[in-house]
Amino acid sequence: MQELRVHLLPALVDPADLAGRTVVVVDVLRATTTICRALQAGAACVVPCLEIDEARETAAKLGPDALLGGERLGRRIEGFHFGNSPSEYTAAAVADRTVVFTTTNGTRAMRRAAQAGELLMGAFVNLSTLAKHLSQRQAIDIVCAGTNGAITFEDALFAGALIERVCCSYVGPEWQWNDQARLAFHSWQNAVPASVRDSIRFPVAISMALRECQGGRNLIAEGFDADIDTAAAIDACGVLPRLDQATGRITLR
Ligand code: MLT
Repeated sequence: MQELRVHLLPALVDPADLAGRTVVVVDVLRATTTICRALQAGAACVVPCLEIDEARETAAKLGPDALLGGERLGRRIEGFHFGNSPSEYTAAAVADRTVVFTTTNGTRAMRRAAQAGELLMGAFVNLSTLAKHLSQRQAIDIVCAGTNGAITFEDALFAGALIERVCCSYVGPEWQWNDQARLAFHSWQNAVPASVRDSIRFPVAISMALRECQGGRNLIAEGFDADIDTAAAIDACGVLPRLDQATGRITLR
């Protein structure tokens, strides 16, 4: 029996319960989408940090090659090279560079999963690549970042999409889900109808669902409307970002 659990907030799982398991951290709007984009654009690695000062110190230690990225209250942090808009992380800006990165919720969720056996980043932009990889795993946890301790629909939606791909697309033994996985799966099936799954309307349907979420509405209010379409661009980045706990770096290796 394979097991897949969803935790709709980091606080809903004891870090010790993630020990040795394959964990996917999800922050669709926007941390994990942005990390996928940065690595797809050729960044050497992304170094997640909890605090702004920690990020500044880490970048200073790494030297002039390091770039600072991230957000507080959705906006670029003073003195940082980038905010948290995926579109900022172009090849011209980040290729072969180290991005030291801090966000409000996404990087915190990663810390919560520090005991994972394998720690991956998930977003709509890497859905198929991630699902293919997970189909070979026996014990999976999807940890949703949420926003400031509140469950967010966008992360639950993605968790549901990932469950559909992993558990319903590959032939294998039966999966056991926790109830949060069931909630995510049914939310996804309700919000994005099966009839559009294989069509060009698929990203549009996801984008519309993301726009209705609190996270989407916050981004629109801050002028980051375009980031929602970027986050909804299913499979735009065929990457599998993995956090190596020993080095503290997220890479594609
Ligand atoms: C976070 O980590 O909280 C976010 O990704 C927030 C944002 O991008 O605005």
